[in-house]
Amino acid sequence: MDPNEFRKYGHEVVEWIARYYENIEQYPVKSHVTPGAIKARLPELPPSGGESFNDFLKDFDEIVMPGISHWQSPNFFAYFPANTSFPSILAEMLTAALGSQCMIWETSPAAAEVEEKMMEWLREMTGLPSYFEGVIQDSASTATLAAIITAREKSTDFLINNYGFRTAPELRVYCSEQGHSSVEKAVKISGIGKSNLVRIPVRDDFSMDPVKLEAAVSVDIKKGYHPCCVVATIGTTGTTAIDPLKAIGEICRKNDIWLHVDAAMAGTALILPEFQWMIEGKEYIDSFLFNPHKWMFTNFDCTAYFVRDAAQLIKTFEILPEYLKTRTRGRVNDYRDWGIPLGRRFRALKLWSVIRSYGVEGLQNKIRQHIRFASELEGMIRKAGDFEILAPVVINVVCFRYKPEGSDEYSLNRINEMLNHALNDSGKLYLSHTSLGGKYTLRMVTGQTNVTLGHVQKAWELIRNTARSIKI
Ligand SMILES: Cc1ncc(COP(=O)(O)O)c(C=O)c1O
Repeated sequence: MDPNEFRKYGHEVVEWIARYYENIEQYPVKSHVTPGAIKARLPELPPSGGESFNDFLKDFDEIVMPGISHWQSPNFFAYFPANTSFPSILAEMLTAALGSQCMIWETSPAAAEVEEKMMEWLREMTGLPSYFEGVIQDSASTATLAAIITAREKSTDFLINNYGFRTAPELRVYCSEQGHSSVEKAVKISGIGKSNLVRIPVRDDFSMDPVKLEAAVSVDIKKGYHPCCVVATIGTTGTTAIDPLKAIGEICRKNDIWLHVDAAMAGTALILPEFQWMIEGKEYIDSFLFNPHKWMFTNFDCTAYFVRDAAQLIKTFEILPEYLKTRTRGRVNDYRDWGIPLGRRFRALKLWSVIRSYGVEGLQNKIRQHIRFASELEGMIRKAGDFEILAPVVINVVCFRYKPEGSDEYSLNRINEMLNHALNDSGKLYLSHTSLGGKYTLRMVTGQTNVTLGHVQKAWELIRNTARSIKI
C-alpha cells in the first residue's frame, strides 16, 4: 500500500468508524454467533499473493462484525466498561502510525516523557500522595503481578530474584473473598503459590473485614509463615465494595507488609473530591493501580500503576544487557525496568489526548453523571416492589434480582439466570451477573462512555417487563 492508497483507505476507515458510532445501537449488543462460526468462514490457508484492502474491509464487515459484542454501545451494562472515545481513537491511530517501541528513553524520548507527565497529572487528579511515581502497564493483572513480585523481593531482601526459592520463607498474600482473580493469578505466577493466598472474609457491605485480616496475619506468623503483601480493593468486581484502607494499612505497617491497592475501575472516581474518602489511609499504600481503559474513556490497554518507592520496583525488574546500555541511564526513566515486558507501546499519547479533550472538569462531569444514573436506577428498582437490591450502590454498579412472591432461593436463582439470558439474547442490552451469598445476582453498570439516563430507563423497563413475563 503506498501513501496515496493509504490516504484513500484511511478516509474510508475513519468514515466507517464515524458511521459505526452513529448506528451502534442498531447492532445486537451481545454477539449471537455460535462457537466456531467465525473461524469456519476464514480461509484454510493464508493468501499466497497480496489482496486488496477493499476485500479486507468487506470481510471485516461480513465475517468479523457479526462476531463482535459492542462494548461501546450505550446499552452495554455488563462487567466493568472498557470505554473508548473519539480523542482516544485518533491518538491511537497516531501511536500505530509511529509504531515506536518505547522500551527505553532513547528509543523514543517523547514517549517516555509524555508518560512521565501523564502519570504526574493522574497522580494529582486522583489525589495520590506527591511522592508516588507512575508507569503505564498493559493491564491491572500485570500491575498486580508486578506489585506482588516487588513485595516478594522486598520482604526477602531480593533473595528469590537472585537464588530462587530454595532458602526462602513461605510467603503469604492476603485479599478479601471479593478480591479479583488477578490476585490469584499473580500468586501462582510469582511462585508464592495459590495455597498461600489467604482470602479474608467480608463484612455485610462486601468489603474486607480488617479484624479478620489481623487475626489471619497473626495466626500465620505464629505458624511460621512470612506475611508479604495485602491486596486491598477499591471497587470490587462484584459490587464495587471499598476495602477500609486505613485499618488495613495500620495492620500492614505494624507487620511490615506491602499494601497494594487494586482500584481497577473505581479509581477513576477519585477525580471527584467527594470520592476521596475511598483512599483515606493513602499514606499506607505501597502500590496502587487503576485502569483509564475502564472508565476514563481511554481505549484498552492503559493501566496506571503507581509506587511509593520506584527504586524497589526497578531493582526487582531491571536487566542490563549490552545492547540496552545508554549514555542517559540514571538520568531518565527507562520504563523497561518498571515492569515485565521489554517492548512497550506509546500508550501515554491517547491518555494525553483524552485528558486534553475532556479537560478535568469534563471528565468529572461525565463520571458524576454515571454515578447519578446508578443511584436513579437503584430508586427505580426499589420502587418496583418485586425486585431486590442485593448490595450497597457505591459508584456505578447496581446489583439486584427479580424476586416474585412465593419463590424459594433455588427458583429465584433459576429465574434470574433465565432473565439474564433472555435479556442478553434480545440484543437490546448486555448485563452480566455475579453470585452474592449464593444468590444469582444481576449487575448493571452505568459507566459506558455514551450512556444517558434515557438508556438506563429504557433498559430498566425491558428488564422489568421481561422478568414479569418469565414462565417457570
Ligand atoms: C477489581 C479488578 N481488578 C483487576 C481486574 C483485571 O483487569 P485487567 O483486565 O486490566 O487485567 C479487573 C477486571 O475487571 C477488576 O475488576
